[in-house]
Amino acid sequence: MAESLGGMKRSHRCTEVSSSNLGETVTVMGWVQKNRNKGGLIFVDLRDRTGILQIIFEESQCGSEVFEKAGKLRAEFTIAVKGVVAKRAGAVNENLATGDIEVIAKELKILAEAETPPFHIEENSKTRDEIRLKYRYLDLRRPDLQRVIMMRSEICRVVRNFLAEEGFIEIETPMLTKSTPEGARDYLVPSRIHKGSFYALPQSPQLFKQLLMVAGYDRYYQLARCFRDEDLRAHRQPEFTQIDMELSFVDQEDVIDVNERLMKTLFKEILDIDIDTPLRRMTWHEAMERFGSDKPDTRFGMELKNVSEVVKDCGFGVFSGAVAAGGSVRGINAKGQAGMPRKKIDALTEFVKGYGAKGIAYIQIHEDGSIKSSFSKFMSDDEMKALIGALEGEPGDLLLLVADKNKIVFSALGGLRLELGEQMGLIDKDRYDFLWITDFPLLEWSEEENRFMAEHHPFTMPKEEDWEYIDSDPGRVRAQAYDIVLNGNEIGGGSVRIHRSDIQEKMFEVLGFTPERAQEQFGFLLTAFKYGVPPHAGLAYGLDRLVMLMAKVDTIRDVIAFPKVKDASCLMTEAPGRVDAQQLEELGISITEDKEEENVQL
Ligand code: AMO
Repeated sequence: MAESLGGMKRSHRCTEVSSSNLGETVTVMGWVQKNRNKGGLIFVDLRDRTGILQIIFEESQCGSEVFEKAGKLRAEFTIAVKGVVAKRAGAVNENLATGDIEVIAKELKILAEAETPPFHIEENSKTRDEIRLKYRYLDLRRPDLQRVIMMRSEICRVVRNFLAEEGFIEIETPMLTKSTPEGARDYLVPSRIHKGSFYALPQSPQLFKQLLMVAGYDRYYQLARCFRDEDLRAHRQPEFTQIDMELSFVDQEDVIDVNERLMKTLFKEILDIDIDTPLRRMTWHEAMERFGSDKPDTRFGMELKNVSEVVKDCGFGVFSGAVAAGGSVRGINAKGQAGMPRKKIDALTEFVKGYGAKGIAYIQIHEDGSIKSSFSKFMSDDEMKALIGALEGEPGDLLLLVADKNKIVFSALGGLRLELGEQMGLIDKDRYDFLWITDFPLLEWSEEENRFMAEHHPFTMPKEEDWEYIDSDPGRVRAQAYDIVLNGNEIGGGSVRIHRSDIQEKMFEVLGFTPERAQEQFGFLLTAFKYGVPPHAGLAYGLDRLVMLMAKVDTIRDVIAFPKVKDASCLMTEAPGRVDAQQLEELGISITEDKEEENVQL
């Protein structure tokens, strides 16, 4: 039978009790981690969010009633214990913060009984993710998950304190709003009052934060929940949190400066790590050329080399053809991997096909200097030599090449580089490598839509010196946009915004918006900008990704208390769920298609 507290007050959390409390009476509360009865003594490991404390029940100390009650305890019972702190009679447990003490129980209350949980509450659980997520509240009792969730809270605290000190104001923006142009699909919320109309959940507070600058708030921030209905890839969730900020009367350098100091403070306070500032910077163009990625992992080398010039006239049609068609041939040098078995090379070929590449061309340079290559018969010895030279190939090396359109070559080799870096153990997991990527292209050509799209969003300011090319060569115009990258992850991004109506109108035109459509979608912003808009710029971090990297956990799910799985469902609440006919009717919605339940994808 569960008991009430009956006036009992907790005096300490488990690991707050220490040898400095010897002889004192304490009251502790928590869950039974384990209990064992040994020769008239009942040992209970009591757990709360701070850790474990050993409790001893001995009949001569607590009386027969309490002793009998203690005999009924089972794992995960919720209890309250009053007792006296004593030096541990048995061997000291070095693994526990409280390993040199124990509490000799005098009183016990069973606050709640518990059924046998579907898995044991322990660190590094091997339990299947489906089960863990279904019983997330039990999973969240596990110490490793608790440490991450508490670190997240600390990170938020440090961020808030830092930004407040820097004069930022925390302002909330609406959840029920109109769609913002971030490029992903919106989550829609039907309106009951305006039947047939929908709110969109914000993909980010972008437009509102710009309006707050118009309103004169100068420096805004928010830990903002964002919603994006996109196919979930690694490190993405349908709802996630941004550390979102916007500043007025600033340029790119001001935003970078305050954010470098934020990262420095955060890493010092949370991890006691000194981040060297200023952080490294690299232009988008250089990042693509050297790493095949706009978020390069710079903890290791194996950089891409452009060998198009070397092979453009060679006898191997795949190479010369790609260059002739306006693409390129690039390669990486996997040092010491010449002995890689054929099977593994085949697996890498399949891997790059995932990026749209047709395959990999390779050269194995054996230790004795002999060469095996998938295309040597198409090349003269001199051509081969020049190619190996360009890739700095030495005996023992494996050279891997991809020939295609630039976009495919970059993504295939960029991905291959990461895969090999991982496989070859080249990545120092203890390092934190920050990097700013700057000078992004303003526009990106969309093959599907056959038009230019905004690389960041339509409010990003072009670089002044490139603006003259907006009509003649739009793809050449670079943006005042910047991303902050950590260990190969885009942890944040932002830009200087357009505050001049002539540039904004031109941008809409280039993006294929008619003035009417621009007005319809962003009219409120365009109107607001007529009433005095300060130059402004901002940035948003993906908080979840940042926590993931700081806590060194493998999945974004484990930095979120109640995450969703790949198909955007929640295994605990079983959201999304059906609603009853009356609710639908009120909203004026009818369902046209019934879909079969699909298998859960994690
Ligand atoms: P952006 O779209 O680059 O910029 O988003 C900012 C950061 O949010 C994180 N992020 C995500 N994290 C988890 N799950 C997702 N599905 C997800 N999508 C994005 C990334 C990313 O760098 N309004 C602009 C910011 C600005 O210009 O100020 C914006 O939202 O870490």
